Amino acid sequence: MAPLEKYSRNDVKNHNDSNSTWLIIENKVYDVTTFLNEHPGGEETILEEAGKDATEAFISAGHSSEAREMLRKYEIGELIDSEKTKKGTRIPNIFGTGRIVSQVIFVALTVGVFIAIRMYHSSRN
Ligand code: HEM
Repeated sequence: MAPLEKYSRNDVKNHNDSNSTWLIIENKVYDVTTFLNEHPGGEETILEEAGKDATEAFISAGHSSEAREMLRKYEIGELIDSEKTKKGTRIPNIFGTGRIVSQVIFVALTVGVFIAIRMYHSSRN
């Protein structure tokens, strides 16, 4: 396979209408111009994200693994390294909310459990 083309977020921004529709999903760049009128979720939903980082929107729409497979067909490259979002620091979207909300809930739960354990131990002394 040819090495991936590198784009900046600014490059992608210029492709924000139905003549040329690019999206960023998880640091990869997709040209979905020809897919617009095939999208089961409608042309408008994609156009709203055109030229932008659609990671959040793509994930919160709850796409199937088939939809993820389809992405491959439209991949044209990836973001330049300095503009990539970090991987591995993500907490999965287990609460059916946005990622940020999930992270807040996750941290709150962790702190809650910690406090509960501390209280349990101190009440036994
Ligand atoms: C190249 C990118 C995309 C591909 C390949 C794709 C593919 C698909 C596919 C195959 C479905 C049918 C259900 C499924 O299999 O999950 C779907 C539904 C949907 N998509 Fe996308 N999609 C893309 C981008 C987006 C974006 C950026 C949004 C923005 C919010 C979006 C919103 C939706 C919604 C709301 C539905 C649900 C429609 C319904 O249930 O009636 N999609 N998409």
